[in-house]
Amino acid sequence: MKFFVDTADIDAIRELAATGLVDGVTTNPSLIKKSGGDFIEVITEICEIVDGPISAEVVSTDHAGMMEEAKKLAAIHKNIAIKVPLTEDGLKTCKALTDAGTMVNVTLCFSANQALLAAKAGATFVSPFVGRLDDIGEDGMELIEDMRIIYDNYGFETQILVASIRSVEHVHRSALIGADVATIPPDVIRQLTHHPLTDKGLEAFLKDWAETGQKII
Ligand code: E4P
Repeated sequence: MKFFVDTADIDAIRELAATGLVDGVTTNPSLIKKSGGDFIEVITEICEIVDGPISAEVVSTDHAGMMEEAKKLAAIHKNIAIKVPLTEDGLKTCKALTDAGTMVNVTLCFSANQALLAAKAGATFVSPFVGRLDDIGEDGMELIEDMRIIYDNYGFETQILVASIRSVEHVHRSALIGADVATIPPDVIRQLTHHPLTDKGLEAFLKDWAETGQKII
């Protein structure tokens, strides 16, 4: 499963990219607002740090406007994936862009039927928002299970990009189901490393090593 980092925070992206674990980045208008930076400058900088798909979202809601914005965003770098909302105009834009060879991430997906439409529109990625489904009392991960079955039934190549991840359990279940990508907030990526027995074990090894009085270098 590929790991994308779900943030527009340049420092966090730089730090996580240095681990070699980051395969791409997703942003959205809210994350750009949170970063406090200029949209085009932030996206350009992210493209210089991470060599993988970088999602940049359009804000027009009509097809013509989306196409115009997509043209400007796609010109930033070959790795840009244009993010469009899962609406009729968004799907029309998705088809036009993917037919022309541009990567597209169809976002704000909340049902298996919406996911089927995005795949039929040729989406490179579709982003089901699991955390927001959990927020309204549903099990967001059930949508991922349904999508995996539907995409496999028909051999769709659209990649399931699990979004709105809030916990390490979302990541665990995504991997069990066979999602293609998980886009994960920086703090959740860091939590994935931790296990109390790892900390306890390391402490014991270092204590015993010190007692040997030896040095490796
Ligand atoms: C990613 O592409 C989405 O925009 C993001 O995961 C949404 O997450 P949120 O529901 O925590 O805002």
